[in-house]
Amino acid sequence: MNPAVLQQSYDRFAARYDAAFIGQQRPKIVALASRLPDESPAVDLGCGTCLARRITGRAFIGLDRSRGMLGQGRGPRVQADLSRLPFADGSIAVALCVTALIDFLDPAPVARELARVLRPGGALAVSVLKHEDVDGLLRALDDAGLEVVERLDLAQDFGFVARRRQGGGGAKPADAGAADGGT
Ligand SMILES: C[S@@+](CC[C@H](N)C(=O)[O-])C[C@H]1O[C@@H](n2cnc3c(N)ncnc32)[C@H](O)[C@@H]1O
Repeated sequence: MNPAVLQQSYDRFAARYDAAFIGQQRPKIVALASRLPDESPAVDLGCGTCLARRITGRAFIGLDRSRGMLGQGRGPRVQADLSRLPFADGSIAVALCVTALIDFLDPAPVARELARVLRPGGALAVSVLKHEDVDGLLRALDDAGLEVVERLDLAQDFGFVARRRQGGGGAKPADAGAADGGT
């Protein structure tokens, strides 16, 4: 879906989102957030109405593109796109991203941004709807330097817990495939 159209539909639906989706989102949020270390700064990317902050009580900084969704939330929030995160390199300890990579035709720019803002060893818990390009996301995370350490089956979503590789930049060296046997 065109990003502007997707954003407009979230803007329009924002006031009804919690009533419609809290039952579906709660178990995913609880499962994913429980895998994240209790460190800060912690960001909730594609936070929507900030359900994760309310459900877990954790001081997530919420980020979303939809002003309408952000308007239903509480706490620190920023309007931005997942592919251009307004955070400094290596400045984020933990990141949560629940069912927000919807219709991302190319997950690589988002994965690179996640790797850029996470500190070395920083943790990411992300879920995507099962019909999304899960293999593409996994490739993009790995290429960006985010190592998946746990996989979860979360009803409508698959969930992944990843760590930013230690040392250097986030991205895997270009010759890493040859060095580790090309797999
Ligand atoms: C299904 S809702 C999930 C919201 C929240 N994570 C939850 O679990 O309740 C998807 C959210 O992702 C946001 N989103 C989608 N694409 C985005 C993008 N490229 N940048 C920022 N936010 C985005 C939407 O605006 C929407 O609020």
